[in-house]
Amino acid sequence: MAIAKIIKDVLFTEEQIKRRVSEMVKRIDEDFRSKDLVVIAVLKGSVVFLADLVRGFTRPLAFDFIGVSSYGNSTSSPGLVTLEKGITVDVADKSVLVVDDILDTGRSLCFVKTHLQRFKPREIKICVLLEKKGTRIVDVEADYVGFEIPNVFVLGYGLDYEDRYRHLPYIASLREEYYNELRRKGIGPI
Ligand code: PRP
Repeated sequence: MAIAKIIKDVLFTEEQIKRRVSEMVKRIDEDFRSKDLVVIAVLKGSVVFLADLVRGFTRPLAFDFIGVSSYGNSTSSPGLVTLEKGITVDVADKSVLVVDDILDTGRSLCFVKTHLQRFKPREIKICVLLEKKGTRIVDVEADYVGFEIPNVFVLGYGLDYEDRYRHLPYIASLREEYYNELRRKGIGPI
């Protein structure tokens, strides 16, 4: 499907994202100064954000990926999150920064945080590019947030619509007709 056909508004341009990501890196870099940092990115939506974020750091760090199922059938099967890919990096006694593209109901990040705790890291901080307000179902807070957004379906910069459009360098909202179609299927904003 043509990109222009499905996009309602561009919420954040490539330039705006770039600026915000570099501000975030500066702050995180300062906060984690002299700590042994391991970045854990939540597949797949966080991958583009992760790539830009880690390239801003000027210090040594390790990164790895974790895969969980969430969102997919969220409105029809609430609360079900399962581990699809575990980490292989050692996080014991390290400072962990969990990176995700979006914090919505909080189920995915709550699950990830609980899962990682069993490997006894020294601390776990959460960094998300986007945060929806008023949609949390479980209690989880991000320590670093790029942008707050309303409860709309967003795509681009790692975020997908039916597993496509993750490559777009900007973040856009989905047009109503497609959004309604997702709701009919039980996917997307509650
Ligand atoms: C999305 C997104 C977050 C999660 C946020 O992932 O990347 O990980 O949902 O939603 P929550 O706060 O309600 O849990 P999704 O499961 O769609 O997988 P994807 O990243 O592979 O697209």
